Amino acid sequence: EKGAYDFFMLKEIDEQPAVIRGLQQTYIAQDGSIKVDKKLMDAMDKADRLYIVAAGTSYNAGLVGKNIFEKIAGIPTEVHIASEFGYNMPLLSEKPLFIFLTQSGETADSREVLAKVNELGYESLTITNVPNSTLSREATYTMLLNAGPEIAVASTKAYTAQIAAETILAKGLGMIKGTKQATEFDTGFELTKAANAIQSLVDQKDIVEDLAKKYLETTRNAFYIGRGIDYQTAIEAALKLKEVSYVQTEGFASGELKHGTISLIEDKTPVIAIITDQKTASLTRSNEQEVISRGANVINIVSENLATDGDQIVLPEVHQLLTPLAAIIPAQLLAYYTSKERGYDVDKPRNLAKSVTVE
Ligand code: M6R
Repeated sequence: EKGAYDFFMLKEIDEQPAVIRGLQQTYIAQDGSIKVDKKLMDAMDKADRLYIVAAGTSYNAGLVGKNIFEKIAGIPTEVHIASEFGYNMPLLSEKPLFIFLTQSGETADSREVLAKVNELGYESLTITNVPNSTLSREATYTMLLNAGPEIAVASTKAYTAQIAAETILAKGLGMIKGTKQATEFDTGFELTKAANAIQSLVDQKDIVEDLAKKYLETTRNAFYIGRGIDYQTAIEAALKLKEVSYVQTEGFASGELKHGTISLIEDKTPVIAIITDQKTASLTRSNEQEVISRGANVINIVSENLATDGDQIVLPEVHQLLTPLAAIIPAQLLAYYTSKERGYDVDKPRNLAKSVTVE
């Protein structure tokens, strides 16, 4: 039920802090240890490499997950677009473990890869929001997101839930492996901090709504830029905006702009920079100057400690690995308000279905 909301998308954006807290309750014990099927943890421990396979927003959650698995659990991780996997099958390691990320559990492209993985006799985990879905039934293991039904075609709470689930698994695996990073990473504390940050961002919707009206209501195109982890958020942010508002939007690695894309910048082209990492902030800031001098309108989605002035949405501090959980929220809201202002059916963008059951 939508209740007081005009659209499910906004309701689902607002539900994100509760979804993350729910995952913590389900999968993190009082003493901070991870409560996940022991057989699954053993299978992950035996693996020498993780292969994350997914489509769309779930693929983008996989890009963020790669970083988390590698940094916390120290396990090499590859991320693959499901529909490409069959044609471009990577050279597999000796002991691969496959992780399927899928909100619906029904995506045909991912099902096709799982069928192949089963044929080859490898173990797999499906992380999904839908119990008993096809991908859940056909994989060796399942981890449920318990995010509640996601009705809007644009995925929001499933994305952040998938990142939280990957974080929990990475911590569990890292503890088994005894990595220093896992020992030092307090999952409960960090996820609580991220959930609180999301809460404070959804409580400041007005700022985002004003920016959407000011810069995105009539534009034909837009760009998200970022470096490293912020680039991964930029890719998902761009998908959200283009999907629901039909503004042609691309997510770019800031440093790549000057290698071609900057030729697209015109007077008033919106460029939204995501800046959460101290190490790359000044580089992205100079990329901003390059587009400003070509007439772009720049908005920053920026961590508290890196904020300056100008049009910006300031993110409360969260653990560096989890910044995508906070940084995506203003981007989801920008997409929502742009679509709504333009008078579209936000929950049902043209040409799209909630679950894509054809290849
Ligand atoms: O159900 P899945 O997570 O497997 O769906 C994958 C994509 O179809 C889905 O994320 C799609 O990209 C969304 N509409 C994005 O908001």
